[in-house]
Amino acid sequence: MTAVPPSPESPFLRACRGLPAERVPVWFMRQAGRSLPEYRRLRGEGSILDAIRTPDLATEITLQPVRRYGVDAAILYSDIVTPVAAIGFGVDVEPGVGPVVAEPFRCEADLARLRPLEPEADTPYVIETVRNLVAELGDVPLLGFAGAPFTVASYLVEGRPSRTYAATKALMHGNPGLWDRLVDRLADLALASLRSQVAAGASAVQLFDSWAGALSPPDYERFAKPASAKVLAGMADLGVPRIHFGVGTGELLTLMRDAGADMVGVDWRVPLDEARRRLGDGVALQGNLDPAVVFAPWDVVADQTFDVLRRNAGHPGHVFNLGHGVLPDTDPTVLERVVDLVHAHAPAGAHPG
Ligand code: CP3
Repeated sequence: MTAVPPSPESPFLRACRGLPAERVPVWFMRQAGRSLPEYRRLRGEGSILDAIRTPDLATEITLQPVRRYGVDAAILYSDIVTPVAAIGFGVDVEPGVGPVVAEPFRCEADLARLRPLEPEADTPYVIETVRNLVAELGDVPLLGFAGAPFTVASYLVEGRPSRTYAATKALMHGNPGLWDRLVDRLADLALASLRSQVAAGASAVQLFDSWAGALSPPDYERFAKPASAKVLAGMADLGVPRIHFGVGTGELLTLMRDAGADMVGVDWRVPLDEARRRLGDGVALQGNLDPAVVFAPWDVVADQTFDVLRRNAGHPGHVFNLGHGVLPDTDPTVLERVVDLVHAHAPAGAHPG
């Protein structure tokens, strides 16, 4: 079957490139997931990794928020640990917790547990899901993604989600040579996975460095940026927009742009006008409504949504999103209204103020 690729004129892809679009595009990180009753009904028990390995299920879960919200992009239902799990590192995703590793990465010998990814053999279910989705989505672009080396490394080293990243930083500073080899392997894994997603039809990619904000700018530059830059540079020839996202990364925005992004994701801590002042006009921005604001009364949600749009000031390079993922207790009908509000807003060039 030959799928019809989404038109490069889609508002999402145009905004990623800083081009004016017919409306401000919007999607939500974690738009698929526990906030949706239709997800909870379908998903059942068991590891998310099993759901990801079932293309019909992963396809349907990816489509659910597109149908409900009318968002301008779909994001592949997968996880940042899918590639490391597929090569047998020994990682699972515990509901309510996140990635857990039975035997964390500790020493040189552990590098042998990180062989290269062969997407056709190791993650055929991801490729099949992407192909299914591209056939189903029509004009709506599919966003592929991978975890950035630092963030994936933090799970492999800590063994579970961490607040301090103490073990990660101990390895990074204590054995920088081993750290470099670890993140270089994780860069190769992310790159192989992303390239296979684009080859199967994904029309943009997002590199999630969710926990990079734990690093100071000098440490980010030394220990995280080179491996992320390897991933982003390795995608350049494919010509798809590359979004680079992290949380608490206000002080890292320019470094994350310089790693090779077409669009930088901004969390809610930095107002969008300030983010653009830091980054200049050469790069598009994604964000940045506080995901917890949706629990406030609707007037407040509407005000804060308008505030994001107002601070963007009609700049064409803007994709509206939350500053981080949809929280599980979110009322999806509030997000429906946010989408409607953003779509009703005059797009770039026609903004009144
Ligand atoms: O809608 C989407 O955003 C697409 C799917 C998606 C998932 N994980 C599915 C998922 C994406 C893009 C991710 C990326 C991911 N995974 C990140 C980067 C994004 C971010 O939030 O910063 C990170 C850090 C992970 C690791 C991970 N996986 C965590 C921290 C958790 C949460 C644990 C929990 O249960 O609250 C997961 C599990 C996970 N990944 C869920 C989903 C829908 C929820 C659990 C489930 O349904 O089984």
